[in-house]
Amino acid sequence: MDRTAIVTGGARGIGKACAIGLAKAGFDIALVDLLEPEMQATASTIREIGRRAAVYQADVSNFARAGEIVSDVEKTFGRVDFLLNNAGKSNPTGILEITEESFDRTIAINLKSCFNYIHHAAPIMLGQGGGRIASISSLNALSGGVTAAVSKFAYASAKAGILGMTRALAKELGPNISINAICPGVIQTEIDTLFTGEREAETVSGIALGRLGCADDVANLVVFLATSEPLFMTGQALVVDGFQFKV
Ligand SMILES: NC(=O)c1ccc[n+]([C@@H]2O[C@H](COP(=O)([O-])OP(=O)(O)OC[C@H]3O[C@@H](n4cnc5c(N)ncnc54)[C@H](O)[C@@H]3O)[C@@H](O)[C@H]2O)c1
Repeated sequence: MDRTAIVTGGARGIGKACAIGLAKAGFDIALVDLLEPEMQATASTIREIGRRAAVYQADVSNFARAGEIVSDVEKTFGRVDFLLNNAGKSNPTGILEITEESFDRTIAINLKSCFNYIHHAAPIMLGQGGGRIASISSLNALSGGVTAAVSKFAYASAKAGILGMTRALAKELGPNISINAICPGVIQTEIDTLFTGEREAETVSGIALGRLGCADDVANLVVFLATSEPLFMTGQALVVDGFQFKV
């Protein structure tokens, strides 16, 4: 049976690696992102792997658009087996400087987006007898952030919200849907220039496994959650950080 996964934020970075990993594991992929050309490139790679790909340019914070997209994915592919809520954006603004609009936007992109897609995908999954969901939270949700100098409290709030949502929905949607959150530590992606040189060495000195993470570290866990049979795991916050003991 062909399986379908929706991957938000699949144009680049962690989402792209997850979409490609899921395609290699046999999923057809629906990508949702703001970045059309980058998404098309991910879609081409998925087709080269031999799976189908659909591309939806959208802002994940838009509830109505999420409904249209999820319904179109079901129409196009026939099923929704796995949802990866990956799209997100950091906000390095402290409590004294942030505006109400900036706070609301960070919650909308990182947390409400998960609600938007789960709300529309869960009925389809339940109707077909089951499905799985994973949402990308962050180590920030647990630690409050990697540096004292840069406050990301709005981002940490949104990412911590994902953990509460995940636990509550694991109870509500079990036993037919498993839902887990993933908390990556420092993951170096293609556009990342933050952790290089001295900063990289300093960060790595506080990571037990002695390196920064890469997108495939997260993708491997996502593929495990999507494909492992059976899976006796739901409502969890799974940390992928090489054990970052110095934050
Ligand atoms: N890179 C890290 O170190 C790290 C650590 C912990 C958590 N995360 C989380 O992992 C996820 C992916 O991060 P990444 O490092 O690959 O970042 P990235 O910026 O490379 O990728 C994020 C993707 O999401 C898309 N996106 C952002 N806002 C969107 C919106 N409103 N609507 C639709 N698409 C939107 C972007 O266009 C981009 O393609 C994010 O949720 C991020 O918070 C990343």
